[in-house]
Amino acid sequence: MNTPTVLVTGATGTIGSALVPALRARGVTVRAMTRDPDRPVPGAETVVADLREPESVAAALKGVDAAFLNSPSAPDAAELQIRFADLARDAGVHRLVLLSQYAAHADSPVRFLRWHAEVEAHVQELGLDHTVLRPNLYLQALLAFAGTIAQGWFAAPIGDAAVSAIDTRDIAGAAAAVLTSTGHTGHTYTLTGPRAVTHAQIAQALSAATGQDIAFHDAPADQFTAALTGVLPPWQLEGLVEDYAHYARGEAAEVHTSVTDLTGHPARDVTDFARDYAAAFIPAE
Ligand SMILES: NC(=O)c1ccc[n+]([C@@H]2O[C@H](COP(=O)([O-])OP(=O)(O)OC[C@H]3O[C@@H](n4cnc5c(N)ncnc54)[C@H](OP(=O)(O)O)[C@@H]3O)[C@@H](O)[C@H]2O)c1
Repeated sequence: MNTPTVLVTGATGTIGSALVPALRARGVTVRAMTRDPDRPVPGAETVVADLREPESVAAALKGVDAAFLNSPSAPDAAELQIRFADLARDAGVHRLVLLSQYAAHADSPVRFLRWHAEVEAHVQELGLDHTVLRPNLYLQALLAFAGTIAQGWFAAPIGDAAVSAIDTRDIAGAAAAVLTSTGHTGHTYTLTGPRAVTHAQIAQALSAATGQDIAFHDAPADQFTAALTGVLPPWQLEGLVEDYAHYARGEAAEVHTSVTDLTGHPARDVTDFARDYAAAFIPAE
């Protein structure tokens, strides 16, 4: 019998790059999607396709048994994901695993959560075997702050709110489990770390792992916006501020057991993340 083929979108990205080896370890054939013809993905059959080019996506989906759908954050992300899901159904893909976000909801004040809810609602109507993964804030998102963290500080408009942030390696582990085992049809799994942590606690974990003094400063939203104006496009910056307001209201602090339930391993703690990524937060010599 042929081994099943799983298509991984965003295969060179944060989740995808951890998902490809996790799937390989489970013995399936991995087809890794990238837009870059010069970027073969190790351990996978690489397919060149762009979510904005439907013909390339349809070709990438040929002969695929299951697909993992993740797209970069973009103003048209919902449209691109909905079109991918339709093409997956047309191609006869048996199972679709959708990467969404913690607290996705059509009425959310956070635009990203509304976009994810729109895709979830569409996928639920398609009649495909589907599963939704809703991860909370990525611990790896801290890598975007590495420049100032290496100088001893980082700032965000979150106050002392706790968030059950998750290591993206655990999201990949959970996705690999759902893509390769049965019993997940129609389920929505909220994926979190093992505890909710404040940004001050994150700073403590980074300090302990790096041996440097790292402080967290709460930043008013307008100051945070001013610092990133011109760095991020307006839609993304406004969305990020909405995300932080949602965290600051304490709306992202629930701890769920889905990572352990799906993978058989406890979710990584912020101290594990800090230990494994310490080098990224240490000033260059
Ligand atoms: N950051 C968080 O804390 C957080 C929390 C929960 C959920 N999320 C969700 O995670 C998703 C974004 O994840 P991320 O920022 O970590 O991104 P990412 O997965 O690292 O995305 C980048 C990937 O997207 C691929 N890509 C870019 N444009 C593409 C296109 N037009 N067609 C096909 N592939 C394309 C890139 O591949 P190539 O360049 O190789 O083509 C790359 O592999 C969003 O849906 C976001 O809402 C994020």
